[in-house]
Amino acid sequence: DDPGMLAAFQARIDRGDKIEPKEWMPEGYRKTLIRQISQHAHSEIVGQLPEGNWITRAPTLQRKAILLAKVQDEAGHGLYLYSAAETLGISRDEMFEQLHSGRAKYSSIFNYPTLTWADMGAVGWLVDGAAIMNQVPLQRTSYGPYSRAMIRICKEESFHQRQGYHIMMKMARGTEAQREMAQDALDRFWYPALMMFGPSDKDSVHSQQSMAWKIKINTNDELRQRFVNETVPQAEFLGLTVPDPELRWNPDKEGYDFSQPDWDEFFEVLKGNGPCNRERLGARVRAWEDGAWFREGLTAYADKAAQRRAG
Ligand code: ACO
Repeated sequence: DDPGMLAAFQARIDRGDKIEPKEWMPEGYRKTLIRQISQHAHSEIVGQLPEGNWITRAPTLQRKAILLAKVQDEAGHGLYLYSAAETLGISRDEMFEQLHSGRAKYSSIFNYPTLTWADMGAVGWLVDGAAIMNQVPLQRTSYGPYSRAMIRICKEESFHQRQGYHIMMKMARGTEAQREMAQDALDRFWYPALMMFGPSDKDSVHSQQSMAWKIKINTNDELRQRFVNETVPQAEFLGLTVPDPELRWNPDKEGYDFSQPDWDEFFEVLKGNGPCNRERLGARVRAWEDGAWFREGLTAYADKAAQRRAG
């Protein structure tokens, strides 16, 4: 890239301009966005699976309707994000191929199992809570289509977080067995939720450049700290215990001191060795293959309709 063009681009970013699809951008900026947005889209799509498992087992008709709506929202988020990535010159077929062949990453969190109904509460509360913490600042990200997609996604994620917390309130104040299920879900999802923000800043290879381009607005550790600060009082309100003996309020930094997740486990999950990696990817590929007849039907119909219009 020409140094003058790069400097002019950086000046636009520094001024707070939004970059739009047809405008000039450095190759690295384009590639980083494709990587981040497509990983984000894949996370929404694969993220339907752990909760999809519980649609048929929701305890009431109302809970089932809510869960169904939430999982459909996630499909919608995936589709907006694929559309945003397509404006950067990658096709949806290429992105699907990257996901289905296992070359593309999606959020580590979705490689953990959802074992009980309380997990639907913990996923909404913690996983969607962590997603919002990361995505609210992304509404100000420098790439126009991505920032605009985030606005609606964040509104829907807030509803998802509230519905999860509502399940947790019911469970935590239910029978002793239900309270234990709620605590067990918190115990299993706490550290995986902390991992969602990515490796610690010293191990984050992309943060510095992504922040200079305002693709990312905050570092991984900043957002993790913010999440802990907001979530601990919510756990206290539920009467549940965050599974971290080192957790304590630190008045000097006006935030909690807390234990880091097991980063070896995190990198293993990224390599494909988490508890459910193979199962999730397998389910995704199967869904894609089972839908082939439907995609073919749609294409045949669209071709016929185009011929009719032409003729
Ligand atoms: N799960 C899987 N991979 C991860 C995770 C995670 N929780 N955190 C980091 N990584 C990967 C990065 O993608 C990167 O790998 P790559 O070079 O092969 O792409 C590597 O670990 C190093 O991490 P960083 O340098 O910190 O990467 P980055 O600057 O992209 O930051 C982050 C990671 C914070 C997840 C960022 O990409 C982001 O904000 N993405 C948008 C939000 C998103 O994807 N959310 C999904 C959450 S779930 C949901 O929304 C439904």
